[in-house]
Amino acid sequence: MSVTTYYTATSLDGFIADEQQSLEWLLRQDLDESGPLNYDEFFARIGAVVMGSTTYEWILKHERGKWPYQLPVWVMTTRDLPRVDGDIGFARGDVRAVHAEMTAAAAGKDLWVVGGGELAGQFADAGLLDEIIVYIAPVTLGAGAPLLPRKLDLRLEEVARNQAFTCARYSVVGRTAS
Ligand SMILES: NC(=O)c1ccc[n+]([C@@H]2O[C@H](COP(=O)([O-])OP(=O)(O)OC[C@H]3O[C@@H](n4cnc5c(N)ncnc54)[C@H](OP(=O)(O)O)[C@@H]3O)[C@@H](O)[C@H]2O)c1
Repeated sequence: MSVTTYYTATSLDGFIADEQQSLEWLLRQDLDESGPLNYDEFFARIGAVVMGSTTYEWILKHERGKWPYQLPVWVMTTRDLPRVDGDIGFARGDVRAVHAEMTAAAAGKDLWVVGGGELAGQFADAGLLDEIIVYIAPVTLGAGAPLLPRKLDLRLEEVARNQAFTCARYSVVGRTAS
């Protein structure tokens, strides 16, 4: 069965982008690309990807219109966004339908929720988020795009240092009883 993972990087105070949508604070950190919980090994098991529209627009701007993914990607939006070459589908509303389409497209491989945090929260709300892998950068930002604005219980499965980063892998146990 496909595993659905939110794989991302965060500031210590829980933001995945600053208030200007900048990742400068992240990209200037030292990182061993073949170190623990690295992106290449993670991405090798992924068969389908989902992201929100802010993330999509950030990628278009920073990759100068060249789409970086060879696999099917769903972009969640209520707007008419520009299209680029690539296997990109736009979707809106209930993520359960998107999850079912992604699972079929991934053909046994895993699913990556790129972000943002609210979108990862929608998958968690639907009971469809299995795992969170997070690279914690040694910075605080004070404000920005939230990592995961939900109350969830997690289980720490793995933790390591990758140069500047603390890296952790959690499984999602469920919503915290209030
Ligand atoms: N640190 C990292 O590793 C990392 C990883 C990923 C992203 N980022 C950055 O973090 C920031 C995240 O931005 P964000 O918090 O705004 O999140 P986002 O998920 O990228 O975008 C949120 C937008 O997606 C659309 N959306 C989400 N769920 C939807 C649904 N169910 N149906 C229809 N539309 C839906 C809505 O926009 P519209 O309907 O208005 O289009 C919503 O405002 C970006 O700057 C991104 O570049 C950082």
